[in-house]
Amino acid sequence: MDYANWLSRKDLEYKNNQLYFSNFNVQELTVKYGTPLYITSEKIIRARYNEIDCVLKSVLHDYQIHYAVKANSNLSLLKILESEGSYFDCTSRGEIYSCLRAGIPSKKLLYTGNIFTDEDFKFAIENEVIINLDSLSQLYRVNKIYDSLKNEKKLISFRYNPEFGAGHHVHDITAGKNIKFGILDNQIVEAYQKAKDFDFHRYGIHIHIGSGISNVMKYQKAIEKFFSIIEKISKEVSIEFEFVDFGGGFGIPYHPGEETFNFDLYKELVIAPFKSLIEKGNIGNPQMKVEPGRFLTAESTILTTQINTIKDNGYKRFLGVDAGFNTLIRPMLYGSYHHIIPCYKLEKGEFLKYDIAGPICESGDILGKDREFSELKEGDYLAILDAGAYGFTMSSNYNSRPRAAEILLSKGTSYLIRKAETYDDLFRSQKIPNHLK
Ligand SMILES: Cc1ncc(COP(=O)(O)O)c(C=O)c1O
Repeated sequence: MDYANWLSRKDLEYKNNQLYFSNFNVQELTVKYGTPLYITSEKIIRARYNEIDCVLKSVLHDYQIHYAVKANSNLSLLKILESEGSYFDCTSRGEIYSCLRAGIPSKKLLYTGNIFTDEDFKFAIENEVIINLDSLSQLYRVNKIYDSLKNEKKLISFRYNPEFGAGHHVHDITAGKNIKFGILDNQIVEAYQKAKDFDFHRYGIHIHIGSGISNVMKYQKAIEKFFSIIEKISKEVSIEFEFVDFGGGFGIPYHPGEETFNFDLYKELVIAPFKSLIEKGNIGNPQMKVEPGRFLTAESTILTTQINTIKDNGYKRFLGVDAGFNTLIRPMLYGSYHHIIPCYKLEKGEFLKYDIAGPICESGDILGKDREFSELKEGDYLAILDAGAYGFTMSSNYNSRPRAAEILLSKGTSYLIRKAETYDDLFRSQKIPNHLK
């Protein structure tokens, strides 16, 4: 994809050297709301949801898209996705609360945790949220909780670990023998047999092999194993599945010119074979679920930041900005690439290479390495692209820095959807014991 198309897919363009995002002048917005600032385009979220919806619709009629709330849990984004027809996947009670707070009914939620407490289970059961269990021992605990609550045991699902994982970084590969997620081959049949013995009588199954997968071929081995284990469970335990959940992981084009996720190939390797598996008639007539997070929200958001310090130490040039790994941790945590562009670009004079440095007191606080710019000066603004997934949700107060504001662009209007934290917010929940006062 050429650079202009790559930018335009993200609804970004330069007009008279000024950066526009969804038809808004980025610098004007940034000056109005202050930096650092997360700016989200409603239009892009809707477009990405429709992209996945069209792919699934072209093969299947029974499917649900569960947005993975962990990517970005802002209530306004949840509301946008719900209005498109999305369901949701939550990984914690806090994420379930977020959905309920956004007015999303609990029947639209999945709870795919990993290490659950009994309180987590109780909360999910009382709210009738479907749980994807992560271990055999959790089944025993959930069964006891159902008995103690005297709730009817209905649907239960397990996360299967197919041992073939993939992802943009080793921390985000979620399948494999040494990986903490899911149930391996040696226990998965037993898990369903036990569930049946315990009187659960409706079943789902779940898989999620990793996050940020650009090469669709990486799904192939895991999916082949997944399908054969589904058939094996159905046959050996004599059960049918109500849903098969394929998780998320769809990568996005972070690098300039990078191609988008190849949904045609995903259709060929995953969706169409799933349809054929159902047509064989051995596993029931399960619904397909997917759980994309990054794909739906990453490209919807830019993070703007102001350059306050330009430093040339004789060996290296640094652009010092007011966003750091407290604001966007992905470059520091995973070595992830986020493209960074100026809000006003002159493009005359010499291009110089800079590292974009945040204010955090660690030398790893670099948002971009060896990026080329011309004619930048202190006070100028930069936009960090594709910051909508695992951006704000992974931000922190490290170095006692308040978290950034978030705004939403919708049909020509900008809305503040989260105020920037204040210094008072940092101390709101702290208490000093009397003897120290
Ligand atoms: C269970 C589960 N589902 C969905 C996702 C979303 O992944 P992604 O944002 O890569 O689509 C994750 C993320 O790690 C996950 O753990």
